[in-house]
Amino acid sequence: MHTLTVSLAERSYPIHIGAGLLDDGRYFSSVLRSRRVMIVTNSVVAPLYLERVLRALQTEGVRADAVVMPDGEAHKDWSTLMTVYDGLLEKRCDRTTALVALGGGVVGDMGGFAAATYQRGIPFVQVPTTLLAQVDSSVGGKTAINHPLGKNMIGAFHQPRMVLADVSTLDTLPDRELRAGLAEVIKYGLIRDPEFFDWIESCLDQILARDPATLIEAISRSCRNKADVVAADETEQGERALLNLGHTFGHAIETGLGYGVWLHGEAVAAGTLMAAELSRRLGWLADAELERIEHVFRRAGLPVHGPDLPTSAYLALMAHDKKVEDGALRLVLLRGIGRAVIHSGASADDIAAAIDARRA
Ligand code: NAD
Ligand code: GLY
Repeated sequence: MHTLTVSLAERSYPIHIGAGLLDDGRYFSSVLRSRRVMIVTNSVVAPLYLERVLRALQTEGVRADAVVMPDGEAHKDWSTLMTVYDGLLEKRCDRTTALVALGGGVVGDMGGFAAATYQRGIPFVQVPTTLLAQVDSSVGGKTAINHPLGKNMIGAFHQPRMVLADVSTLDTLPDRELRAGLAEVIKYGLIRDPEFFDWIESCLDQILARDPATLIEAISRSCRNKADVVAADETEQGERALLNLGHTFGHAIETGLGYGVWLHGEAVAAGTLMAAELSRRLGWLADAELERIEHVFRRAGLPVHGPDLPTSAYLALMAHDKKVEDGALRLVLLRGIGRAVIHSGASADDIAAAIDARRA
């Protein structure tokens, strides 16, 4: 078992990573403000893990109710969010009730936004059950729902009191979802941790084979990177934006195709290759480095080309990005493997050429 800390002064919190943690109610007990919990989960995760969490809470004398959402990115929306508020109100949850998000990034982002806004903010606990959520979305307090015109456009920062990442839940995760999560793992190597990138290259087969010790190391090293960035720049005034490598292109893919058609991690993978291609065109990334990046994504079974949307559609959707400032698009680009930068000087022609080169 590994425990890391996200250091945010009085709002600091632990990330526990290990096998079988779901069944130990003491983790929950240690961070609750009252003996009341509302679990938010979905129709796929509930039959797999809800009973176990309820039992763990019961042994600690905690009263827990649950809201079960429909599954999928297409439901990370306003109407589903309302059903979470309905559940909280119907069960008369008060400001001391903790909202526990049990599931992947969709449940975590939406449950977190409900926790941030219900009665102006209630305690929140993340129990991520996908690789993507364990390495990225459960850490750092970004919560949101989608708008038809843009991904994650309605949201808030609301840090959890604890992240409980039980790696044994990954046993039931479909292969495609495991691979999608790897896109965010590779991201940390590319933006700030070149030794981790080397390690991923050498351990990728063990990760894909779900070797528990290798998975725990991949999750811990990812969370260490994320926790350090969040501690340095909680609300994305600077460095935190680097965590969005590939995301400006990727969000355009997700929105352009319709939410849920490509998985988030798949869109980020193709988007990262577009960002790397643009970096190469600017003379910042060597051909050999681009090939190395492409090779690792291919081995992970992730797309290295985006879908065949018109370039104009990519550009129009990218103009909605949250990193746009004063109308200028700011992109995360690479000045080598392990060194990401924010750049607002790329010309529309160069951006379009990078998209064209990396589109199916
Ligand atoms: P997801 O939540 O849709 O989960 C993927 C699928 O796996 C779903 O069908 C889910 O029901 C199922 N599932 C979850 N756990 C399972 C398990 N243990 N066994 C079997 N099936 C399981 O998708 P995701 O990839 O976890 O998250 C993607 C979302 O995260 C996107 O909405 C993205 O925008 C968001 N995100 C947020 C942040 C952040 O910082 N807040 C960072 C990255 C991504
Ligand atoms: N996933 C990007 C962030 O947390 O900032």
